[in-house]
Amino acid sequence: MDTQLKNRKIILGVTGGIAAYKSCTLCRLLIKAGADVYVCMTPAATKLVGKDTFEALTGHKVAIDIFDEAKDISHVGLAKDADLFLVAPATANTIAKIAGGFADNMLTATLLASTCPVVVAPAMNTNMYNNIATQTNLSTLVNRGIYVLTPNEGELACGIVGTGRMKEPEEIFSDVCSILSNRIAYINHHPQLGLEQEKLPAPQKPLELTQTRLLPKSLGVGLKVIITAGPTEEQIDPVRYISNNSSGKMGYALAQVAAYLGADVTLISGPTNLQTPFGVKRIDVKSAVQMLHAVESYVTQADIMIGCAAVADYRVENPSPIKIKKKDDEDSITLKLIKNPDIVATVGHRQSHRPFTVGFAAETNNFEQNAKDKLVKKNLDLIILNDVSNKSIGFNSDENEVKIFDRDGQLAHFDKQSKQVIAQLIMELIFKTVRNK
Ligand SMILES: Cc1cc2nc3c(=O)[nH]c(=O)nc-3n(C[C@H](O)[C@H](O)[C@H](O)COP(=O)(O)O)c2cc1C
Repeated sequence: MDTQLKNRKIILGVTGGIAAYKSCTLCRLLIKAGADVYVCMTPAATKLVGKDTFEALTGHKVAIDIFDEAKDISHVGLAKDADLFLVAPATANTIAKIAGGFADNMLTATLLASTCPVVVAPAMNTNMYNNIATQTNLSTLVNRGIYVLTPNEGELACGIVGTGRMKEPEEIFSDVCSILSNRIAYINHHPQLGLEQEKLPAPQKPLELTQTRLLPKSLGVGLKVIITAGPTEEQIDPVRYISNNSSGKMGYALAQVAAYLGADVTLISGPTNLQTPFGVKRIDVKSAVQMLHAVESYVTQADIMIGCAAVADYRVENPSPIKIKKKDDEDSITLKLIKNPDIVATVGHRQSHRPFTVGFAAETNNFEQNAKDKLVKKNLDLIILNDVSNKSIGFNSDENEVKIFDRDGQLAHFDKQSKQVIAQLIMELIFKTVRNK
């Protein structure tokens, strides 16, 4: 996901909150992912963290004084071709100014001149955060299409415990990646919006995507989720194996979203080239039998199990302990394959500690009937159907289109769009279904 940041111009606004020191780490994460970061500080922020640090990290002058701009960077110039404006930390004061449309310093003036997506990460004392004035200001921002990253609960610098702690730099970084991915996916899906010079327009009111999806972490909180992803590898001999085309992208996207939504996520993954999603515990396995063992060691504590891996149906009965040599006098060899355990069915048929069980049906024909038959045979709560005969969706592609069924019939149909967005829609539906049970 973080590839979305490559060569993107990000304005990082730093205001006078105690969390300003964490913005250095955030700045570094953005730069490491390939972004071109310009920092804009309020005068109050410079009392808490030095501008020289940001200048050394970004290689650009830090913009602070609006009247100094003539020789360096103008607020309009800075805003003009930005891809995203991120204010982290955002003080109560600056949030109020943004809500009121003020332009009394370099940061607020640049923000007002920006047309790109704006993200704010509030950070303040709990009472300041809960104050109706701040809450009203934050609602104004949300209604205007600004992404507000709800602060975490925890011990605050002032010593009290409550909401107001700025999200950690890694979390903000993930949110930024997700916002960019979703904006790009949304715009690709709505070509009429156009992409002028590949710049991303800010969401218009009403907000279309992630805004509401990113904000409430509550949907997944308190739920333990196991997700299997990727292909399996079934050994033939020490150097050869049987595998399949699964990239793992769908399962990883589900794991990332489930973690965003606050769930405790264990991702049991076959071999893939993907990065572990932030905040997710990953267990690596190769074969179907190893995957089953890993699932069984977590399943008794899980509330939800999602079988997204493309598990090999068969494995070699007797893998050779040494490399099988080609023989001149043999035109063929025979491998005897035996059935692998059906992982999601094993979980679905558990007599005790059975989590809410969700399977995927990757079909090439007779789609709905095959999916419904699998739902019953494997004793699943939900089945997610995708058409893997269509090259533009499913295996190895970045997009998907799915239908979801329960015992009573079709629950949802999510049109072709990025796997990230599909993952959000699926996870929301699963969490809501589990909570309503
Ligand atoms: C040490 C210190 C830490 C502060 N931390 C915060 C904070 O975390 N959040 C906040 O809203 N204000 C905080 N303030 C108050 C702001 O700095 C003050 O409201 C200032 O006017 C904000 O200006 P700015 O929004 O232009 O950066 C802090 C002040 C001090 C002296």
